[in-house]
Amino acid sequence: MEHPVSRTVHILNGPNLNLLGKREPHIYGHETLADVEAQCRRLADELKLAIEFRQSNAEFQLIDWIHEAREAAAGIIINPGAFTHTSVAILDALNACECPILEVHISNVHRREAFRHHSYVSLAATAVMAGFGTHGYQLALRHISHLLKDNAPRTRDRPKREDSHG
Ligand code: DQA
Repeated sequence: MEHPVSRTVHILNGPNLNLLGKREPHIYGHETLADVEAQCRRLADELKLAIEFRQSNAEFQLIDWIHEAREAAAGIIINPGAFTHTSVAILDALNACECPILEVHISNVHRREAFRHHSYVSLAATAVMAGFGTHGYQLALRHISHLLKDNAPRTRDRPKREDSHG
C-alpha cells in the first residue's frame, strides 16, 4: 500500500529556545515557546496541516529529529539557535531531506554580531526568514502550505550549488 501524502510539518527548535520570553526579551520578545506552539497549532488547523513542535538543547537530538522528519514530514521549519552558525552535522542531516526546509530566526541575525551572519543551515534551506519575531514561524507555515499546493514550484528540486562539495 502506498504511503498517504504527509500533511505534517515538523517544527524544530534548537538550544536556549526553551527560555524564549525570559531570555534577552529586548531581542527575542516576551512570548514563550509554548505561545509560539499554540499560534502554530491554530494556524495549522486553518491550513489543514498537522504539526510536530519540538525543542532540544542537544545537537544529536535535533539530528535524530531531522532523520525522523526525513521519513515523515511534508516540510521542516527549523530554528537551530546557535547551531545555525556552527553545525555541519545539522547541515548534513538537512541535506538528506527532500521536503521543503524553512530556516527561521526570530531576530534579524544580519543586524547582530558578525559570527551570526553565516549560517550552515542556509545551504540546505529552501527559504530563510530572519527578523520577523515569533511571527516568522507562522509565515513559514503559510509558505509550506503554499508549496504543498499542486501548482507551486518545487524549490527543493533546484540544481545543487556548483561550489558545494557534497
Ligand atoms: C536565533 C539567532 C541565533 O543567532 C541565536 O543563537 C539563537 C536564536 C534567532 O531565533 O534569532 O539562539 O536563531
